[in-house]
Amino acid sequence: MQTSSLAAWKELALHCARSAGKLSLARMKEPFTVEYKTSASDLVTAVDKEVEKHVVDMILQRYPDHGILGEESTFTGDPGKFDTLWVIDPIDGTTNFVHQQINFSVSIAVYHKGEGLIGVVYDPSRDELFHAVKGQGAFLNDQPLRLNRQVHLEEALLCTSVFWNKRAEQMGIDQIVKKLAGKVRGMRLLGSAALELAYVAAGRLDGYVSLSLNAWDFGAGKIIVEEAGGRVTTMRGTPLPYDQKSSIMACNPAFYEELQHYLSLNENT
Ligand code: IPD
Ligand code: CA
Ligand code: CA
Repeated sequence: MQTSSLAAWKELALHCARSAGKLSLARMKEPFTVEYKTSASDLVTAVDKEVEKHVVDMILQRYPDHGILGEESTFTGDPGKFDTLWVIDPIDGTTNFVHQQINFSVSIAVYHKGEGLIGVVYDPSRDELFHAVKGQGAFLNDQPLRLNRQVHLEEALLCTSVFWNKRAEQMGIDQIVKKLAGKVRGMRLLGSAALELAYVAAGRLDGYVSLSLNAWDFGAGKIIVEEAGGRVTTMRGTPLPYDQKSSIMACNPAFYEELQHYLSLNENT
């Protein structure tokens, strides 16, 4: 991988994230249509689709030979056929967006031959840009992020994304949350996985766990957490895929093993 390509991809990813975030924020103040995808708790708005198209157009105009894996499927090619793949979620936290809440973000990652190279998560409401390039560290705006604080599990503020449906129940989500909640300092649920992962990298949260996320939810956040010195795996402790649904645990490395022990007892997917 040429350094010049990496730098150019990073600049484009940062530009797309800022531009997409500003577009979402502007559209939030206007009326927009909301549709149910599978249920009343699985939403998509006209803004999600517009913003994804905005990002896809910018990427393909510059790199017509790159592939894109986006939540709203604006890109019609087969993502598996491309060496360089952009993994994007135009609005992560659509439910918050619909309810006029601030916790939503844009998530953009670049993978090359399956390796995560660039991660960008932008929070337009607070104008906070979290970003990382593999081997070059993680940043919040221009401030470096480093997880060097020793945290015990008892002192940890953890975040999760629970969805209380039948399948989650069968997978044991209630047991996991119950066990963890009794052990840690506190549990939070912000409603944007990408932002929650960025907060782990920034040390605002000490860990994030979810039984099931899509690749576009964690593609960028994973790279940012790892570059800040955190650990990210599936709940079984295996490497995360870059192009499929997975469980995830991301945390300060100080208590990774202890947390994994709790989670591995419960994951039976
Ligand atoms: C959702 C958010 C949420 C997580 C869900 C995701 P969306 O993404 O990241 O925090 O709990 O699993 O689907 O639908 O708002 O892009
Ligand atoms: Ca998402
Ligand atoms: Ca989304």
